[in-house]
Amino acid sequence: MKLLVTGGAGYIGSAVAAQLVEAGHEVTVLDDLSTGHADAVPAGAAFVRAGITEAGGVLDPSFDGVLHFAARSLVGESVEKPSLYWSNNLGGTLALLEAMRAHGVRRVVFSSTAATYGEPERTPITETDPTRPTNPYGASKLAVDTALTAFAGLHGLGAVSLRYFNVAGAYTGADGRVYAERHAVETHLIPNVLAVALGRREAVSVFGTDYPTPDGTCVRDYIHIDDLARAHLLALDACRPGEHKIYNLGSGTGFSVQEVISVCREVTGHPIPAVVGERRPGDPAVLVASSERIQRELGWKAEHADLRRIVADAWAAIPR
Ligand code: UFG
Repeated sequence: MKLLVTGGAGYIGSAVAAQLVEAGHEVTVLDDLSTGHADAVPAGAAFVRAGITEAGGVLDPSFDGVLHFAARSLVGESVEKPSLYWSNNLGGTLALLEAMRAHGVRRVVFSSTAATYGEPERTPITETDPTRPTNPYGASKLAVDTALTAFAGLHGLGAVSLRYFNVAGAYTGADGRVYAERHAVETHLIPNVLAVALGRREAVSVFGTDYPTPDGTCVRDYIHIDDLARAHLLALDACRPGEHKIYNLGSGTGFSVQEVISVCREVTGHPIPAVVGERRPGDPAVLVASSERIQRELGWKAEHADLRRIVADAWAAIPR
């Protein structure tokens, strides 16, 4: 297929673009490099440096579909600057959808998030559970999911939303290139813990030890970037005109912050000092996905659900 990958110079978008190229698709990456890196765009993909609102100038009727990753994705920033999230994530996506409609491009795979659910009533979370986002980031992604349902019903779009839980690890492409996290502002747990093992930070701060969980720290569902990326190729094949499908993507197992730090100590052989910090506002105690729907309907399965493997791949990918 001929495909546009928006945000394809970012961590997740570049890994998916690499798998698409490896599968024989013709890929164009669109990215404004506001948070991505030009050298993350896989060899074999064309690259256009432009914002999402300029997608109309890149698309044409020969495109078969779009994989849409371009977005702002920091929960804390979204609380401080909500309009940035509404304009980029919702406004940008609406411009993209209109451009797709103008050119008759009928397939889209959308990068959604567990943050659409907010504080869950039960765990594991299924796709039919209530969506009550607790921050503008989650709200903007949920608004796009709602728009996709409308566009599918009204305009015959074939859409799939993938709701990611905690994506981590690194993907090594067929040519040996490594696709890993490289955020200028790093807020995620695993890269922050590994930075301590590398001597780039003194200690990891554990954000709260008084949650209603077995060890008092938050529990999350970590999914390997390789498994996550593979789901996008299945989703692309599953786009059906007039339908919008939503799938959770996680490994189905929860690990606490303390357990993640322990695994990082094992993998790196470093003592990794940890200090107890305040709770981070907006963090739910437990977020674990039921990925039963995507397993049943698309035949997806997490191949690297082992947290040691996820951490080991993230560790090996860090430039020394
Ligand atoms: N944490 C720490 N110390 C740190 C960093 C994180 O204790 O230095 C804790 C957090 O409080 C949280 C857990 O580690 O309990 C995981 O935090 P991350 O920031 O790695 O991930 P989140 O679960 O907050 O967020 C992820 C994605 C978001 C998405 C969200 C969905 O990064 O984009 O899942 O719930 F919105």
